[in-house]
Amino acid sequence: MKTIFSGVQPTGTVTIGNYIGAIKQFTELQEEYDCRFCIVDQHAITVQQDPDELTKTIRSLAAIYIASGINPEKSTLFIQSEVPAHAQAGWMMQCISYIGELERMTQFKDKSDGKEGVSAALLTYPPLMAADILIYNTNVVPVGEDQKQHVELTRDLAERFNKRYGEVLTIPEIRIPKIGARIKSLQDPLKKMSKSDPNQKGTIRILDTPNEIEKKIKSAVTDSDGFVKFDETNKPGVSNLLTIESAMSGVSIADLEAKYEGLGYGAFKAGVAEAIIGHLAPVQERYTELLHSSELDVHLDRGAEKANTIASATLKKMESAMGIGRRR
Ligand code: TYM
Repeated sequence: MKTIFSGVQPTGTVTIGNYIGAIKQFTELQEEYDCRFCIVDQHAITVQQDPDELTKTIRSLAAIYIASGINPEKSTLFIQSEVPAHAQAGWMMQCISYIGELERMTQFKDKSDGKEGVSAALLTYPPLMAADILIYNTNVVPVGEDQKQHVELTRDLAERFNKRYGEVLTIPEIRIPKIGARIKSLQDPLKKMSKSDPNQKGTIRILDTPNEIEKKIKSAVTDSDGFVKFDETNKPGVSNLLTIESAMSGVSIADLEAKYEGLGYGAFKAGVAEAIIGHLAPVQERYTELLHSSELDVHLDRGAEKANTIASATLKKMESAMGIGRRR
């Protein structure tokens, strides 16, 4: 069975961008692949976090994963910092990375642009991400479009490692969803919907109430044409809403265009909101049950144990190939 690895940062509540671009596809892929899904808390601390808040968000994200349909009996669900091999292999990946290639990462440029006191870890974040993927001998990495460059760097680093030290690492493939690889902000449909957007109206979070969802969709930026058609260049706001409804309802974009033919944006937005609310209702219900259950800790403990076994075996091979420690 081929293997999958992917991760989500526990920073703020997951948006429908994270859900459609990543988590929803994870639930579909777990039927066909041996999957490892991670709460990447060491990535979260590349920018300063409130410790109590971070601890809560980690637990909340574990509950969101399972409530969304990740089956912890089938897939390995765990917290990155509970598997020390991530940071250990991350260091080794830093040692074979060039500063120039890390400085070229667009996320680094965006997150550091104009800021003072940028942490060194913001620059060395992609080698840690590479380690996350490579220590599980991953074949496929499902992510949204914004992570494409990081996965391409992961492939480069793995090839470089293998060339220098022998064939140890598996070269992973990237998998980007056909629909929803880049869900846009509701307020600025040229920008990606982001967990850290200070404009709350631009972002729908997976735990938003039906009332909040309706309001945000109602105030979503569209255009003045008044007809519902998918055209990302000329109608980015409408196209984004069509993508969201299609992902949430499973109805194709062409069928949605037909559904709204002759109707105005009022009816369209009501339909989009209804699809999101209907899709998220069972997820939210299960989330609330899970959050305070001991079930969650059982799954995370088991996940960490399984992940440690696989990751430490690869780490040993990497150390031995590089010649660090004692050969035994
Ligand atoms: P993060 O936490 O920013 O996002 C988690 C996942 O959600 C996807 N995503 C989106 N997809 C569609 N539309 C959007 N607007 C949108 N916003 C986010 C992301 O592409 C991602 O798949 N560096 C990663 C976490 C990470 C990781 C890894 C991922 C660490 N190690 C190893 C894969 C493999 C990140 O910050 O994701």
